[in-house]
Amino acid sequence: MKIGIIGGTGDIGEGLAHRLSHEHEIIIGSRNKERACTMGECLTEDLRGKGIEAKCIGATNQEAVDDADIVILSVNYKHLESTLAGLTGFEDKIVITPVNPISKKDYFFFDPPAEGSAALKIKSLLPESSCIVAAFNNISAQKWKRISEELNYSVVVCSDDEDAKKTVMDLVNSISELKALDGGPLEMSGIVESMTPLILNIAKYNNMRDVGIKFF
Ligand SMILES: NC(=O)c1ccc[n+]([C@@H]2O[C@H](COP(=O)([O-])OP(=O)(O)OC[C@H]3O[C@@H](n4cnc5c(N)ncnc54)[C@H](OP(=O)(O)O)[C@@H]3O)[C@@H](O)[C@H]2O)c1
Repeated sequence: MKIGIIGGTGDIGEGLAHRLSHEHEIIIGSRNKERACTMGECLTEDLRGKGIEAKCIGATNQEAVDDADIVILSVNYKHLESTLAGLTGFEDKIVITPVNPISKKDYFFFDPPAEGSAALKIKSLLPESSCIVAAFNNISAQKWKRISEELNYSVVVCSDDEDAKKTVMDLVNSISELKALDGGPLEMSGIVESMTPLILNIAKYNNMRDVGIKFF
């Protein structure tokens, strides 16, 4: 599959590309194509040095939408609306959102839009035929990047489109030790997104690294 990552030069974009590129072609999108191309070349080279033949290419965010089968929206919540306003071509595409609307005082807290979650906001902004799937909300980018370490977490996947949800769950299950769990409709995405500030606070207050969730 071709997977386009909007904002792919960022932390979680780079982390996801580190793992997804082993079996899929990754199109790293950016507002600055040169930056994305440099990152694509570095990542491909880095993985080759570790014995992995990966293909990561750089592109504009628009090219990442146009050329991909699946699009991952990897931008901060505050840039979401302006980013989507400048892009077209989401019709009939699977759009994965790991976006967590979080704010910070001296701790992190869930700060959702009126729609209830970032995923529901995205649904309101994109064409009706695009299939929005919330996934990858709760695992830190740093953990994604350390490819010698297993990713032994649950990934809760929420969507109103059962076929798209199954495609994304299969994608999740193909990565390391990740286990996809069906979290129900997109209406449930707010709960999944709201777990991330909890994880960040637990890491901060308990001086822990790679805090994550695993359901038994
Ligand atoms: N980081 C994590 O560990 C993690 C884990 C799970 C979920 N998430 C979620 O994933 C999303 C991305 O997080 P991140 O940490 O990867 O973010 P980030 O590194 O801060 O930013 C991602 C990318 O967004 C683009 N960007 C920056 N400013 C922008 C602007 N004003 N308008 C449009 N695009 C802009 C940049 O790409 P260009 O400059 O190249 O365009 C940047 O590389 C967030 O919603 C977060 O909640 C993050």
